[in-house]
Parts: sequence; C-alpha cells; structure tokens
Amino acid sequence: MRKQQQPQGNRRLRWLRALLLALPLLSVPVLYAALGAARPAAPPRRGAAPHQLPPRLAYLVSGGAGDGPRIRRMLRALYHPWNFYLVGVAGEEERADLEAFVRGEEAPRRYQRARPIIVDPALQISNKTEVVTTKEKRSLPSAFKIFVGSSWVILSRSFLEFCLLGWDNLPRTLLMYFANFLASSEGYFHTVICNSKYYQNTTVNNDLRFMAWDNPPRTLPVNLTTEHFDAIASSGAPFAHSFANDNPVLDMIDTKLLRRAPERFTPGGWCLGSSVNDKDPCSFFGRSFVLRPTKSSAKLEKLLLKLLEPDNFRSKQCI
Ligand SMILES: *[C@@H]1O[C@H](CO)[C@@H](O)[C@H](O)[C@H]1NC(C)=O
Ligand SMILES: *[C@@H]1O[C@H](CO)[C@@H](O)[C@H](O)[C@H]1NC(C)=O
Ligand SMILES: *[C@@H]1O[C@H](CO)[C@@H](O)[C@H](O)[C@H]1NC(C)=O
Repeated sequence: MRKQQQPQGNRRLRWLRALLLALPLLSVPVLYAALGAARPAAPPRRGAAPHQLPPRLAYLVSGGAGDGPRIRRMLRALYHPWNFYLVGVAGEEERADLEAFVRGEEAPRRYQRARPIIVDPALQISNKTEVVTTKEKRSLPSAFKIFVGSSWVILSRSFLEFCLLGWDNLPRTLLMYFANFLASSEGYFHTVICNSKYYQNTTVNNDLRFMAWDNPPRTLPVNLTTEHFDAIASSGAPFAHSFANDNPVLDMIDTKLLRRAPERFTPGGWCLGSSVNDKDPCSFFGRSFVLRPTKSSAKLEKLLLKLLEPDNFRSKQCI
C-alpha cells in the first residue's frame, strides 16, 4: 500500500548520489513484473495451464538511515510469497536489522519463510559525500526527446530485458547521458520507453499512487492522515504517499483495507492457518500462487480499466 518516504534535504541528495554510483539501473523504486518467470515456478495445480499463473512482481525498496522500522512495517504489509523484494538501505544498523528480520531471527520462526526478500549490501552507503555540481551545461541531445515523470515506475519484464540485454543501443546511450543527472530516476526509463518505437505504445501514464496536494500545490504532496482515508480507499490505487511515521491512517489501512494485525503479514490466499483465538493464519503456508480477490482488488481493476479507456490511454502516452 505504501513505500517509505525519501529522507529529507541534504541527506537525501547524498543518499541519492551514493545509490546512483552503486547501481545506476536500480536506483529507482521499480516494480518489475514477472521477474520470477526466470525461476522455476511452483508447480501449478494439476490441469492448470502455465498461463493461468499470476504474474510475479519484484519490488525495489530503498530507504535512508532511520527508515528500518518503516521498511519492516511496509514489507509486512506488502509481502506475498509469489513476489520478490530487493531492499536497499543506507546505514549499517538498518541493514543488519533488516537482514535479521528477513532471516526470521527477529521474532517468530514463521518469518523464516519470507525468502524472496533480499537485503542488498551493495546499495549501502559507507562514505557520505556531497553532490558535486559542475558549471558547464550539457547540450540537449537532438537524437532523442527527454521525458520526465514519476520516480515510481512499474516496468514489464520484457522492457527491462530490452534495457539490460542490449540488442538496441538506445538504453545504453541514454544510460550514459543520465548517469550523472541528479534526478535520473525521474527520467531514465521514461526517456528510454518513449523513444523506443517497440515500447512507446505500451506505456500507461500513471504510477498507481494516491497523493494529495495543498491548494495551491507545493513541491511535495501533503502527508496523508485519517482525513484522507476514504479518498485513499475509494481511489483503488495500490500505493500512496507521503505518510509521516506511524500516522494513525496507516493503522486504518492495515485494519480496514489489508485486514493485517500488527507485526503480521497481510493475509492472502497463501495463508491456510486458522485465525481462531487470534492465531496468525499466515503461520501455515499454502500454495503461493493462489489469489483471493477482495473488494479492494475490484477497485484496483476499476482504476486500471479507467486508465485504459480511449480518452485516458492513447492520448496520454508519452506526452
Ligand atoms: C571512505 O572515505 C575514506 C576517507 O576519505 C577512505 O579512506 C575510504 O577508502 C572510503 N571508503 C569507501 C568505501 O569508499
Ligand atoms: C503505435 O501507435 C501508433 C498510433 O496509434 C501507430 O501509428 C504505430 O504504428 C504503433 N507502433 C507500433 C510499433 O505498434
Ligand atoms: C511530512 O512528515 C514528515 C515527518 O515524518 C515531515 O518531516 C514533513 O515535513 C511532512 N511533510 C509535509 C509536506 O508536511
């Protein structure tokens, strides 16, 4: 339902730069659909064709120093054994903490099964350096048009393979151009996809996030509170930001939308245990590809259909 906010001010810049240096391609929170197709899938039900399996999502979650508790809370809310999670944090303590959480050492043994969560030490910062700005301005490239948009992109497996495998020069050329661009997470994938004749028709101009703005709007959206709950719930958006630490609206989302008890995973079709006497139904794992749609998923479906309506879809691609 949510991703952590980015750290503020200078810390944010230092953190961004370190991330950019460490792993340019992964420095944006991406939701990379169907990554898991590269791995052997869990055996489908007898008689079920492979195409009936749900797509797998891979999340890139990143945070700054002090974000450990928020990331743990978010991972519990977001976790589904069918998906993958790559978590990068800035800070030795947070990293050790998250690794313990993922290994299941932190508390009950059931979290041992939280396997597809990987804490990536390469995303960690050890040296804090300021961003260096240069005076020279680079000329805008004429061979392609720059597109910018949300940092929170959702990318298909096919498109990421296009970016990574290099059968076309465009992703590589743009990578060099964006490598020392401060907000490259707001432009790299957008520019690649909108300049590629193979992929520009596959874009949807929406990041599936609920945000609320002041009137007149400031540079950042307002922090969401319980006043926004109804709007969040009816929007159908699977993500939202920003949230102040442990704001009560997060508890409302947990109890009313996710039916998630504190310190537990969001229950889903994979949770086969009993919930009698306040037991955790997810302490007993079923098949991870079994999905149980809820009222909220119907709202998400409605949102997606709206985005694909003729008025919303083609005319808003790559503008
Ligand atoms: C961090 O900075 C120190 C001092 O400037 C340097 O000795 C060290 O090699 C740096 N470490 C990394 C990982 O860059
Ligand atoms: C993309 O859409 C445009 C306009 O609808 C069309 O002219 C073009 O042929 C499409 N490109 C591809 C690769 O399908
Ligand atoms: C949102 O909350 C954070 C504290 O978590 C605060 O630092 C920030 O200024 C708030 N943002 C806005 C736009 O009010």
